[in-house]
Amino acid sequence: MNPFCSINQTAIWAQLHQHQRSTRFLHMRDLFEQDPDRFDKMHEKLNGLLLDYSKNRITEDTLTLLIELANVADLGGWIEKMRCGEKINISENRPVLHTALRLEANAEVYVDGHNVVPDIHAELEKAFSFAESVRNGDYKGVTGETITDIVNIGIGGSHLGPEMVTLALRPFHQSGLNIHYVSNVDGANLMQVLKTINPARTVFIIASKSFTTPETLLNAQGARQWFLQQGFTQQDIARHFIAISSATDKAQQFGIDGKNIFAMFDWVGGRYSVWSTIGLSVMCAIGKKNFQDFLAGGRAMDEHFYHAPLRHNIPVLISLIGLWYHTFYQTTSHAIIPYDHGLRRLAAHLQQLDMESNGKQVGRYGEHLDFDTGPVIWGEEGVNCQHAFFQLLHQGPRLISADFIVPINSFYHVSTQHKVLVANAFAQTEALMHGKTLAEAYAELMHLDNRQRDILAPQKVFPGNQPSNTLLLDEINPFNLGMLLAMYEHKVFVQGIIWGINSFDQWGVEYGKVLAKNIQPELSGQEPLSHDASTNGLIAYFRKHHHDSNSN
Ligand code: F6P
Repeated sequence: MNPFCSINQTAIWAQLHQHQRSTRFLHMRDLFEQDPDRFDKMHEKLNGLLLDYSKNRITEDTLTLLIELANVADLGGWIEKMRCGEKINISENRPVLHTALRLEANAEVYVDGHNVVPDIHAELEKAFSFAESVRNGDYKGVTGETITDIVNIGIGGSHLGPEMVTLALRPFHQSGLNIHYVSNVDGANLMQVLKTINPARTVFIIASKSFTTPETLLNAQGARQWFLQQGFTQQDIARHFIAISSATDKAQQFGIDGKNIFAMFDWVGGRYSVWSTIGLSVMCAIGKKNFQDFLAGGRAMDEHFYHAPLRHNIPVLISLIGLWYHTFYQTTSHAIIPYDHGLRRLAAHLQQLDMESNGKQVGRYGEHLDFDTGPVIWGEEGVNCQHAFFQLLHQGPRLISADFIVPINSFYHVSTQHKVLVANAFAQTEALMHGKTLAEAYAELMHLDNRQRDILAPQKVFPGNQPSNTLLLDEINPFNLGMLLAMYEHKVFVQGIIWGINSFDQWGVEYGKVLAKNIQPELSGQEPLSHDASTNGLIAYFRKHHHDSNSN
């Protein structure tokens, strides 16, 4: 495909629109009835992961056309470019190498003629040895006591991935070591954590790729000020504050000792960085061996992504099916529903991963994209969400796709509860797909008189035909979690490539940061305001009613 020809100008694009028009009234209930082998034909397995994508509004023809679309977009070529370190983040002139973070030490990937794999492993080893020394008690605070609390101060990619993985792998934690996350510039976040910790036994990790993010720096300053107020000295900071950043000079200017800075690389986007030294808080929680298993899981998914034929390629399938809805059905959202308490922050992590990557309407060469792209990603842990938003999925007017993520085994000895949990997950996907017809609803209400039945039966109809993928993991262990996360990273990549988006910059977020910087001094000032009437009104109201209370 000519790089300047938008994908929506291609013949395959038109064919997919035509295919959507001719298949949109198919009901999945009928597709399952017509083909008892539909599950066998529409699921894939990789190690401890199974993807069932049979409950989607697709036929074999749909998949053939979508795969043709991926080929027209030169997906294979772009995968190779990413893998080899080509500068595919065009607007920032950088390669995109989170996959390199998961490579084994003897692999090679070159950036500007330099093999970066030894650099990655050198930094990882440094982080592992720090984490191990905290875990085994060798690393002591200035009073000679061991460390009981790690506070990770970061936001966005320097927070969401590490927090999500830490929570998901709770059964692998070392007991006696508490990991806290502070991200929000709302002082309540930091204050609530500080109340629970002993400064003599705490290490603060300031995690910021750029080391310019105001929220993180403000929280870091707040933590440092609090630490000094507890009777510690400036010299003591070196023992209790460490940093992770690609801007090591800025971290040093902030006052972090050079030997306490773990490097990360500018060719890893924040939202893809949990595999790097940004995962230090995770390493402290689960240790080197488990973190290496997490990397190995990611690597296994990478290998599958690079080599499996597209028709059997898990990230490609899940991506193409998502794109089928977002672009050709023009759906606007996709739900992430893990039936696992540990995965309760998965939707938040994937929100950043997907929406910060593909929430764009301009293509990588600056062209306007005249079609629907990045979906709204949202979700909540099951079964809690069944008692919250599932009503709308079952009987609301919108087509909403969803991923159900379900571990087959739990680490807790709660087999009965676990079966109830899993039964709920399976029941939801069945109900969403199958629905309930008016005739079925009437049949259930035979005990009522006709008038009552006429009123109630339509309300008990479930349209069904609501699509879902089910991802079964044999358990949520580091390896399987690594596979799952890498799968979602590649899903986002594939959609971005087909839509023609650069998934690796985030100019929208940068713009918001600039505006906040302008408004901040105005909140305390008296000078006239020159925003729109609403923003002026809000600032003026804040000035009038805010009580200054700077007491960290
Ligand atoms: O939210 C915007 C963003 O730039 C993210 O891409 C990034 O993960 C986050 O801010 C934090 O950035 P940093 O790690 O540089 O502090």
